[in-house]
Amino acid sequence: MTEIFEAIKRSAIRIKEAIEYDDTGYSDHHNATGDTQLKLDIKSDLIIEEEFQSVLSVKEIVSEEKEEATPLHVNGKYLVGYDPLDGSSLIDVNLSVGSIFGIYEGDYAGSSLKASVYVVYGPRVELVIATDKVYMYRLNKQNEFIFQKEIHLGEKGKLNAPGATQKGWSKEHKALVDAIFQDGYRLRYSGGMVPDLHQILLKGGGLFSYPSTSDVPKGKLRMIFEVFPFAFVFEKAGGMAIDGKNRLLDLAPMHPHDTTPCFFGSNEEIKRVLSIHG
Ligand code: AHG
Ligand code: MN
Ligand code: MN
Repeated sequence: MTEIFEAIKRSAIRIKEAIEYDDTGYSDHHNATGDTQLKLDIKSDLIIEEEFQSVLSVKEIVSEEKEEATPLHVNGKYLVGYDPLDGSSLIDVNLSVGSIFGIYEGDYAGSSLKASVYVVYGPRVELVIATDKVYMYRLNKQNEFIFQKEIHLGEKGKLNAPGATQKGWSKEHKALVDAIFQDGYRLRYSGGMVPDLHQILLKGGGLFSYPSTSDVPKGKLRMIFEVFPFAFVFEKAGGMAIDGKNRLLDLAPMHPHDTTPCFFGSNEEIKRVLSIHG
C-alpha cells in the first residue's frame, strides 16, 4: 500500500504545478458522464496513470476521465478508482480543487475499499490518508508531505453544505435543510466536494449532502471515484456516510460511472437525515 501512497504524492506534486501554470481552457473531448473535459482534467489523469504504471501492486485503474478500466499489472493486489481533478471548473475562478483515490481489493464495491486518499489543492496542498485512522499531511517547500495530525469528527458540528439544484430538491429535503439552518448551522459550500468535505472534517463536523433531485434522481457524485472514498474517510474519522437510508459502503456499482445520492457528516446530523430520508 505504501508504494501506492508514494505514487499519489508524486502525482499530487505534478498536478499542483499543472494547476498553477497550465492553460485552464477546455479540450474538445467529453468524459463518460458527458462533461466537457478541461485540458487539466486530461493532463491530471495522464499524470496519475503514469505514476501508477511503476507500482506493481496496482492491478487496474479506473478514472472519472476514462470510459473503462485500464489493466496495469496482472499480479497486482489492488484496484484504484480515482477522480484526478475534482471541481476542475472552479480553477478558472481560483477556488480550491482536489484529487480523490479509492484503493480497492477484488472489486469496486464499497465494502472492498481498503484505504482512501484525497488531496486538496488550495492556498496550501494537503493530503489525507484513511486506513484504520485518518491522517493529514501538508506539502512543505522541499516538496515533502509532512504529517500534521489525525482527523476526528465531533458528535455534532456547525457547518451545512447542501449540494445540488435547489429547484429539484424534494419537499422533505428542503424542510430538513431549513431546519438545520434554523438550528444555527452556517452555510459552507464552494462547489468542490474535496474542500467542502475537508472543511467539515477539520472543523469538527457538520453535514454535506448531495441528494436525489428531480433533474438527477440518482445524484451526481460517482460511487467509485468520489462517494466511497469519502464515505471511508468519514467513517474512519468517527462520522457516518449514507445514501439517505443505507450505509454508502454497503452499496456496489453496476458500472464504473454509477452515481448515488450521498450524505456525509458527524453522527448527529446523519441521524437527522435518517429520520427524514430513512
Ligand atoms: P467534477 O468536477 O469532478 O465533475 O465534480 C464536481 C462535483 C463536486 O466536487 C461538487 O461537490 C459537485 O460537483 C457540485 O455540484 P453542484 O454544483 O450541482 O452542487
Ligand atoms: Mn469529481
Ligand atoms: Mn473530475
